[in-house]
Amino acid sequence: MASVSCIIIYTLLLVSVCLALAKNTTNSSSSSSSSLESESEREALVRTGWWTAWWGNQISKEKHCSWSGIGCSEEGRVVSIDVRRYTIEDELGKLNFSSFPYLQTLHLSYCKLNGSIPYQIGMLSKLNYLSLHRNDLCGTLPSSLGNLTYLEHLDVSWNHLTGFIPSELGNLTNLAYLYLSENNLTGSIPSDIGTLSNLIELYLDNNRLTGTIPSALGSLINLSKPWTLVLINLVAL
Ligand SMILES: *[C@@H]1O[C@H](CO)[C@@H](O)[C@H](O)[C@H]1NC(C)=O
Ligand SMILES: *[C@@H]1O[C@H](CO)[C@@H](O)[C@H](O)[C@H]1NC(C)=O
Ligand SMILES: *[C@@H]1O[C@H](CO)[C@@H](O)[C@H](O)[C@H]1NC(C)=O
Ligand SMILES: *[C@@H]1O[C@H](CO)[C@@H](O)[C@H](O)[C@H]1NC(C)=O
Ligand SMILES: *[C@@H]1O[C@H](CO)[C@@H](O)[C@H](O)[C@H]1NC(C)=O
Ligand SMILES: *[C@@H]1O[C@H](CO)[C@@H](O)[C@H](O)[C@H]1NC(C)=O
Ligand SMILES: *[C@@H]1O[C@H](CO)[C@@H](O)[C@H](O)[C@H]1NC(C)=O
Ligand SMILES: *[C@@H]1O[C@H](CO)[C@@H](O)[C@H](O)[C@H]1NC(C)=O
Repeated sequence: MASVSCIIIYTLLLVSVCLALAKNTTNSSSSSSSSLESESEREALVRTGWWTAWWGNQISKEKHCSWSGIGCSEEGRVVSIDVRRYTIEDELGKLNFSSFPYLQTLHLSYCKLNGSIPYQIGMLSKLNYLSLHRNDLCGTLPSSLGNLTYLEHLDVSWNHLTGFIPSELGNLTNLAYLYLSENNLTGSIPSDIGTLSNLIELYLDNNRLTGTIPSALGSLINLSKPWTLVLINLVAL
């Protein structure tokens, strides 16, 4: 009798020690590295100066995950930055894109952002939604946008962008909404856009695009789902 309960107690002890050990290892390995990464996200947000400009030193007392416009995952990683219609009036490049490897949503429309779209935007490899609609951005569309293969929504309309539409956009196979309207883009529409078989809306109006509509776009128009193409002011050659 005594030996049986000894075995049971011994087994229970062994199991609980094992559980404690397992708990410890999972805890220490994940929490220390993720709090470091989370700290670097906070640093990158602080360095823009944008949130301090709105709320002063109040933000130093709060976790960045509770700042207005910031969304975090359960692990405390920044997954969403949505400050649309906040007047930032600063350069987009102040945001250090390499600090947000988990970012899925970046919504910066109507923010009076200026400067160009940095090449480093291609490091936001989890990005699903990008809107820079209605700012004062100039320069060209970086080819690194082709790196953002999770993108479903890309809106850079109503800026002052120049140069060609990069053919790398043809790599964005999940893209459903592409808005490039009201800029100063030149050159022809790359045929690679025609490979975007998930596209639902494509707005290219009011640029300085030339050439003809690529025949590849014809295959998109034949898709059974509703599909919109807006090409007003295309200068046909
Ligand atoms: C769990 O970790 C703590 C602190 O890191 C340590 O003091 C403790 O001995 C560990 N427990 C086990 C069962 O390893
Ligand atoms: C493990 O994580 C939990 C919850 O995050 C925490 O309460 C606990 O103190 C942590 N344990 C160790 C040993 O770090
Ligand atoms: C941007 O962030 C990365 C990673 O967090 C860091 O290594 C780099 O020094 C930062 N760059 C600037 C200009 O702060
Ligand atoms: C962006 O706007 C700010 C504030 O108006 C100004 O100080 C800065 O020089 C501008 N930068 C560029 C690249 O135009
Ligand atoms: C493209 O993504 C890869 C892997 O995610 C990364 O290593 C690389 O730096 C990115 N390129 C650019 C231009 O951002
Ligand atoms: C396009 O360029 C022309 C000539 O440089 C300029 O007058 C116009 O304001 C620009 N349009 C946009 C939307 O930047
Ligand atoms: C992206 O597009 C370019 C040009 O269209 C192509 O050369 C490259 O292989 C593509 N990269 C990926 C990862 O699909
Ligand atoms: C699209 O539909 C038109 C008219 O029905 C047809 O002539 C054309 O071959 C189709 N194109 C593709 C790529 O299926």
